[in-house]
Amino acid sequence: MEQQKRYGHFDDQHREYVITDPQTPWPWINYLGNEDFFSLISNTAGGYSFYKDAKFRRITRYRYNNVPMDNGGRYFYIKDGDTVWNPGWKPCKTPLDFYECRHGMSYTRITGKKNGVEASVLFFVPLKKWCEVQKLTLKNESKEVKQLKLFSFEEWCLWNAATDMENFQRNFSTGEVEIEGSTIYHKTEYRERRNHYAFYHVNAPIQGFDTDRETFVGLYNEFADPQAVMEGKPRNSHAHGWSPIASHYIEVTLQPGESKDFVFLLGYIENEQDEKFEALQVINKKKAHALIAELDTTEKVDKAFAELCALWDNLLNIYKVRTGNDKLDRMVNIWNQYQCMVTFNFSRSASFFESGVGRGMGFRDSNQDLVGFVHQIPPRARQRIIDIASTQFPDGGCYHQYQPLTKRGNNDIGGGFNDDPCWLIFGTVAYIKETGDFSILDEMVPFDNQPGTEVTLFEHLKISMNHVINNLGPHLLPLIGRADWNDCLNLNCFSWDPNESFQTTENVSEGTKAESLMIAGLFVVTGKDYVALCKKLGKTDEAARMQKAVDAMIAAVKKDGWDGEWYLRAYDFYGRKIGSNENDEAKIFIESQGWCTMAEIGAEDGMVAKSLDSCKKYLECEHGMVLNNPAFSKYIYEYGEISSYPEGYKENAGIFCHNNPWVIIGECLAGRGNDAWSHYAKILPSYVEEKYQTLHKVEPYVNCQMVAGKDAFKPGEGKNSWLTGTAAWMWYTVSEFILGIKPDYDGIRIDPCLPETATDYTVNRKFREADYEITIHPNGQQKGVKSIVLDGKPVDGTVIPYAPGKHVVEVTM
Ligand code: BGC
Ligand code: NOJ
Repeated sequence: MEQQKRYGHFDDQHREYVITDPQTPWPWINYLGNEDFFSLISNTAGGYSFYKDAKFRRITRYRYNNVPMDNGGRYFYIKDGDTVWNPGWKPCKTPLDFYECRHGMSYTRITGKKNGVEASVLFFVPLKKWCEVQKLTLKNESKEVKQLKLFSFEEWCLWNAATDMENFQRNFSTGEVEIEGSTIYHKTEYRERRNHYAFYHVNAPIQGFDTDRETFVGLYNEFADPQAVMEGKPRNSHAHGWSPIASHYIEVTLQPGESKDFVFLLGYIENEQDEKFEALQVINKKKAHALIAELDTTEKVDKAFAELCALWDNLLNIYKVRTGNDKLDRMVNIWNQYQCMVTFNFSRSASFFESGVGRGMGFRDSNQDLVGFVHQIPPRARQRIIDIASTQFPDGGCYHQYQPLTKRGNNDIGGGFNDDPCWLIFGTVAYIKETGDFSILDEMVPFDNQPGTEVTLFEHLKISMNHVINNLGPHLLPLIGRADWNDCLNLNCFSWDPNESFQTTENVSEGTKAESLMIAGLFVVTGKDYVALCKKLGKTDEAARMQKAVDAMIAAVKKDGWDGEWYLRAYDFYGRKIGSNENDEAKIFIESQGWCTMAEIGAEDGMVAKSLDSCKKYLECEHGMVLNNPAFSKYIYEYGEISSYPEGYKENAGIFCHNNPWVIIGECLAGRGNDAWSHYAKILPSYVEEKYQTLHKVEPYVNCQMVAGKDAFKPGEGKNSWLTGTAAWMWYTVSEFILGIKPDYDGIRIDPCLPETATDYTVNRKFREADYEITIHPNGQQKGVKSIVLDGKPVDGTVIPYAPGKHVVEVTM
């Protein structure tokens, strides 16, 4: 058989994915930064940087969906005689003698070799600093003396990434820079309302520079052949308007065997209003000088890098599994957790599929992301919950998105997504179970960020639940509003106008009968959590009130939400069934199967088992479970965006990886470990790494939002990698339901659900002030814990009671 082409491999020891061919089937990217300053970086050094908010504080420019693909980045040009090359192959695309890109935990190292010279660049954002470090090491591996001409390159974005792409009549006149020694400052709009500037520095004397793009590149040249570089002559240009850039020019002489480090820094600075200037039009550079001084030597940079690595050691030591199965262990111990941290930081804002301009932080998205990272950074999860809840309205509804910079609700999208409120319970409960910190419920949290409107967070949870109860439809099922989790099931937007938004045009919501079974299941799951929380808090009346509402919802689903072999998906505006055998197309949907089986609605009547079987029968395919089946083949005016997609893509019968784990958890709760595992392995990147190299195309180390479904033109193609709820749900599924280590209010609940082939495994779990080493002996069982021994003593039930300190736990199934 012909050997399949491979573009890279995992290096578990270093927690890296190693890319060995720059021409990956799609740019394979990584994220740098942990708190305020962030960068996206592709395997050829493409991408961009921003401070906190990819829309409002874009530092460098990027060109989306361009030709060539992945255009714009931090480029180093090396001119060695007549040969000009880049360590990351692009943009010159000069064939390299060696190429390697190592994407690691918040850092990327790209190495290229050409004609006896090695250039290796380490990219990372140091902890607590507002800059990207690019440590370039040039090494002469040849026997001759090398005289190299080195050009750096960054292109400034004029801060607001949206207007940067459209308002040229203004932009071409506003650009301003300053040059001081080896530092190029970008200060566009600083003279007026901006209190921030950026800079690009190198810790070596320079022999020239450029700051005007047209002068450097040449109007009819490209990034692949900038005039200044090709001629080996910087122009020392000073940008006034047009498109400011930053390029350093350095002449480097290397003896045989010699190597030299250069530390390049892309930094961001904010100044107080009254300290903005040193002199008329001269920016105050004090803070820039200070930041540069912190990172101006190789030693300082190496130390900052070691600190970053130590952070990741700690983060990844909190939950660690040893199953003996590398493919599983590397996802659980490294990449799934890493992706969760990235979704925490970026929500759905900035990737190679999200422009960073359109969307801020999602209310439902960020609550779900929380289960992926709460064990790693509880204090930031706490803050995130407060930020999210602050965008709620007094009636329990909420802004669907908010901007991370301002933390304010996004008016363009508004509210009315009726699943949103429930997710606040989901996130908050996960936080309390992890930390035991009930005090968060007493935090005073405003509505719509309005000072003076504060009520406790607990009150926010209560009105969230009430929002569902107060918005029931004719079958006593939840009204869907603009959409539920499926943004594209828009049952109140009837539109033939291509210029209308499916989500925000609610032209027929008055008198709607559109109800959602997905929200019904979500309400039951989160409602049970809410009841348990109330009991824990001694709020027995409130617990009883909500238990009644949950019971009523269960009854409503059993009565009007069951189609015979599976749960219905919804009722449309007119009260007609969606996701029923009666429909011509899309007879079954995944979301309601996932949520109603997680809620175990009608388990006693066999509904759960039938629903799960139907998922296998109708939704499952080679690459995972599709969202609906059969796919819509025509646009249905009453359904909205969902039927706008061609068959097999996105919400129209794509494998929307995010919702596969819901069914997997349903399987786990039902004790069907073999089925749970086979669904899980199908969308586990390391398990299908070969497919990623060819068919899926996107990064093989993380999940993507969507893999084209069985009805697609090209089944198996992956899209929308990185920023997807899939990360948190895959983590929640494997850590809590498959491996079965579940944080609870009073300890850790142990309840694995495994394939019968599973062998003994050990989980090291730090939990609050405790450190557990838990070994599970499955004995061929898929489910059911027979005995637990904690520090040599048998435990009653399945919860190990929390106690600080080190503990050893033996679990027999
Ligand atoms: C996409 C959804 C997305 C929604 C809101 C739709 O076009 O298919 O996945 O959530 O837009 O941005
Ligand atoms: C992507 C959105 O970010 C998420 O909130 C939504 O649930 C899915 N699309 C499904 O439509």
